[in-house]
Amino acid sequence: MKESIKKKLKLKVSAISSGTVIDHIPSKNLFKVISILELDKTDNMITFGANLDSGKLGSKAIIKVSNQFFEDDDINRIALIAPHAKLNIIRDYEVVEKKVVEVPDAVVGIVKCFNPKCITNNERITTSFDVISKEPLDLKCKYCEKITHEDQMVIK
Ligand code: CTP
Ligand code: ZN
Repeated sequence: MKESIKKKLKLKVSAISSGTVIDHIPSKNLFKVISILELDKTDNMITFGANLDSGKLGSKAIIKVSNQFFEDDDINRIALIAPHAKLNIIRDYEVVEKKVVEVPDAVVGIVKCFNPKCITNNERITTSFDVISKEPLDLKCKYCEKITHEDQMVIK
């Protein structure tokens, strides 16, 4: 194959001049990441790809948000659904910084409480947990105090 064609094929989603590239998102959680980061409400240009080949994950998704830079607290909200996500900060077309996500000390929304009797499963109340262990994950519900373990975790 011609070199010029190989180059065109390599980048599945165009490079951006300035902004944030969120790479290595599990494809099945792409739209959850978009919603958690409120990218469905931004006016900035967004491009994304899903079901892209990736050695580690099998299939990954990538989101590129132009002219937007996230606070660490906001980025860490995707840790439960995209634990291996890598952020690339782009300025003048260059990657100037790389960041990984970290599990935060508290989780609001995103996850369901494991306890079927919990008020959050019976009324329209946003879940809220303290993270009492990060590896493996253990979340303590602020309402019923029951613990949701990693293997029982259901994303809302
Ligand atoms: N990227 C981009 N626009 C730029 C520069 C980079 O969209 N102007 C994207 C690349 O397509 C890639 C990511 O940002 O998805 C990271 O870029 P880079 O560090 O150059 O790529 P890799 O070396 O493949 O990084 P890694 O192995 O950490 O994924
Ligand atoms: Zn609960």
